Amino acid sequence: MSSQYSHNPVLLAEVIEAIGPAGKKMVVDGTLGLGGYTRAILESDQQVRVAAFDLDRENMLAARKKLSGFVNRVVYYQANFAEMKELLGADGFLPVDGIMLDLGLASTQVDDPSRGFSFQRDGDLDMRFDHGQPLTAREVVNSYTVDHLTKIFREFGEERKARKVALAIAERRRSRPFERTVELADFVAEVLGGRKGRIHPATKVFQALRIEVNGEMDSLARVLVDSLDMLDSSGRIAVVSYHSLEDRLVKNFFRGHSRQYVNLPDSLTTTYLDPKLKMITKKAIVPTAAEVAGNPRARSAKLRVAEKI
Ligand SMILES: C[S@@+](CC[C@H](N)C(=O)[O-])C[C@H]1O[C@@H](n2cnc3c(N)ncnc32)[C@H](O)[C@@H]1O
Repeated sequence: MSSQYSHNPVLLAEVIEAIGPAGKKMVVDGTLGLGGYTRAILESDQQVRVAAFDLDRENMLAARKKLSGFVNRVVYYQANFAEMKELLGADGFLPVDGIMLDLGLASTQVDDPSRGFSFQRDGDLDMRFDHGQPLTAREVVNSYTVDHLTKIFREFGEERKARKVALAIAERRRSRPFERTVELADFVAEVLGGRKGRIHPATKVFQALRIEVNGEMDSLARVLVDSLDMLDSSGRIAVVSYHSLEDRLVKNFFRGHSRQYVNLPDSLTTTYLDPKLKMITKKAIVPTAAEVAGNPRARSAKLRVAEKI
C-alpha cells in the first residue's frame, strides 16, 4: 500500500551537518525510528558511537537489524528519551557530544492501522508509542471529563471548537463508547461541520490525543532541560519538530538559555545571566521544496540547533 509517509529520514543532511563535524565520540539518537539518523552519524565518522532510544519495540527491532553491521558502536535503550540522563549516567556515557531528536511518528506507525494513529485507515483507538504503557486513546476519549478533554483539545490540538467536540463526545459515549479511529474521525468531522479544505477536520483532535497518550510535551520539556547537563561543552542538540507546539517549546528554550541579560518589567536594573547555550540556527531550518515533493511528511518539519557553551 502506498503511503503519504515515506521512509526517508527528514532533514537528514541538515541534522548530520549540525551534529558534526567529525571528532565526536558519543552522540545520542533520542528517536531511533528506523535508524536513518543513526546510520548516517555512524557513517560520518568511524570513531563515533551512538546511544539510541525508542519507545517502540518493533521499530527498535527493525532498526537493530538494519544496523547490525555496526554492532559494537550502538547501545540501544527501549525507553523514553525523557529518561536518557539517568540511563546514560548509570552506564557511564555522560557527557555526550550530540543529541538528535526527530519528534513524532515513524512511517511504520502511521502505516499500520492497528496502531490507531490514522484517521484514514481504521484501527483500534490506541496511539501508544510504547505497547507496554496502560493509557490508550480509547481510555482518554471514553473516560476523561469534558473539562479535561476540552483542555487537551485546546492545548495540544489548538482546536478552536474544543469544548463543542468534548461535549459531543461525552454525550455520545454514554450510549456507545468509541472503539475505532475512523468512527471517532467521522464523528468529529460531523460535529465540526464536515470537511472544508484539504485537511481532515479531525486532524487537530487526533494530534491532541496522540500528544496526551504519549505525554509528548512533558517528555520534550524534560529532555531539553536535561540536555544542559548531558552535553559536553561545544556539544550540540538538534531537534526536528512537526507542529507549532513543539517548535515553540524548543525555540523558547534555546532562546531563553542563550540570553545574556534580562530587563525585568518595572525595574531599572538589568539582570545578567549565565547563558548555557549558543543558538546555531537563528531561524528554523526547513526542508527544500525538492525534499517536500519527494516526502510529504517533511512539509511541516523545522530544525533548530543549539550548542552548549
Ligand atoms: C520520526 S521517527 C524517527 C525517525 C528516525 N529519525 C529515522 O531516521 O528513521 C520518531 C520515533 O521516535 C519514537 N519516539 C517518539 N517519542 C519518543 C520518546 N519520548 N522516547 C523515545 N522514543 C520516542 C517513535 O516511536 C518513533 O519511532
